[in-house]
Amino acid sequence: MSGRYARILGTGSYLPETVMTNHDLELLVETSDEWITQRTGIKKRHIAGPGEDTSDLALAAARQALEAAGRRAADLDLIVMATTTPDRVFPSTACLLQQKLGVHGCAAFDVQAVCTGFIYALAVADNFIRAGQATLALVVGAETLSRLIDWTDRSTCVLFGDGAGAVVLEAATAPGVYSTQLHADGDYADLLTVPYGVSQGYDRLRQGEAYIEMRGNEVFRMAVNTLGRIVDETLEHNGIARSDVDWLVPHQANHRIIEATARKLSLPMARVVVTVHEHANTSAASIPLALDVAVRDGRIRRGELLLMEAFGGGFTWGSALVRY
Ligand code: UT7
Repeated sequence: MSGRYARILGTGSYLPETVMTNHDLELLVETSDEWITQRTGIKKRHIAGPGEDTSDLALAAARQALEAAGRRAADLDLIVMATTTPDRVFPSTACLLQQKLGVHGCAAFDVQAVCTGFIYALAVADNFIRAGQATLALVVGAETLSRLIDWTDRSTCVLFGDGAGAVVLEAATAPGVYSTQLHADGDYADLLTVPYGVSQGYDRLRQGEAYIEMRGNEVFRMAVNTLGRIVDETLEHNGIARSDVDWLVPHQANHRIIEATARKLSLPMARVVVTVHEHANTSAASIPLALDVAVRDGRIRRGELLLMEAFGGGFTWGSALVRY
């Protein structure tokens, strides 16, 4: 195979210091460690400290990824940041990250696709690199979802956490990223939403009263069916068999959703990277966080084939097939 492709040179991640366990949540709402564990697999989540912004989490993950890649921030020609919890309305968190990295001039922008954000950002960077418009790209997924949570709503507050993950992509003559599949259907906007924003209910936003709302059961069913379909689409598009996939690196929303996708791939859970028990759902950060964990603990090795997939608000969903 010849041509121009994007290859992952290095990965990094960061989790805020403060850990909140299911038992901590039992003190806030009527819930139990048993319910949360059985329904979601989650045992704990990390929570960003006061003054710790999404761009700070992103910076720590980005520095690690650059170090692993053996590249300097000054050599980046593209920064794509996936986040639903930006530091400010504007400038973009990518620009704030660029400033914190101390670099100037390269293109930097945010991508908003909620839990599918990292797959969207990876696809954008991959296409920039394939098209020759970038050579060294930083792709980050970072979130401070704890700031969007109603801590009196047990149906949502137990599910989410904060964190960041990053990859450095470089142009290469072989994949790398084989393909990305992106989809969205705005008809489902109200099933998973923070129903206020700048042009709708800005007062609620300003007063810190804009929270995540989710019709969990409906989202769950849609997620399982849709992720099953996108697995087939990814395999067909690349002309490969289920048995060719070495690792599933899924979005980490719910252990039961991850298991259903693994079954669809006939992959044993030992070939699935699962971090949801330790991180909860960190939205756009969850896939790069899981990837970095499995790269650093030695499970994922160079040359292995990874299937990444995600489903989230929008609805949005997508996948990426990547040779690490
Ligand atoms: O990342 C983006 C995509 N997001 C997702 O993929 C999340 C998808 N949804 C889910 O993961 C699951 O639907 C949940 C974990 C959110 C909920 O699990 P479920 O099995 O779908 O439960 P449910 O919503 O049907 O609720 C079952 C019961 C309800 O009580 P009743 O009405 O049966 O008496 C809830 O009130 O569980 C109750 N419940 C809780 N009980 C204890 C809801 N939240 C809690 C809680 N603790 N935290």
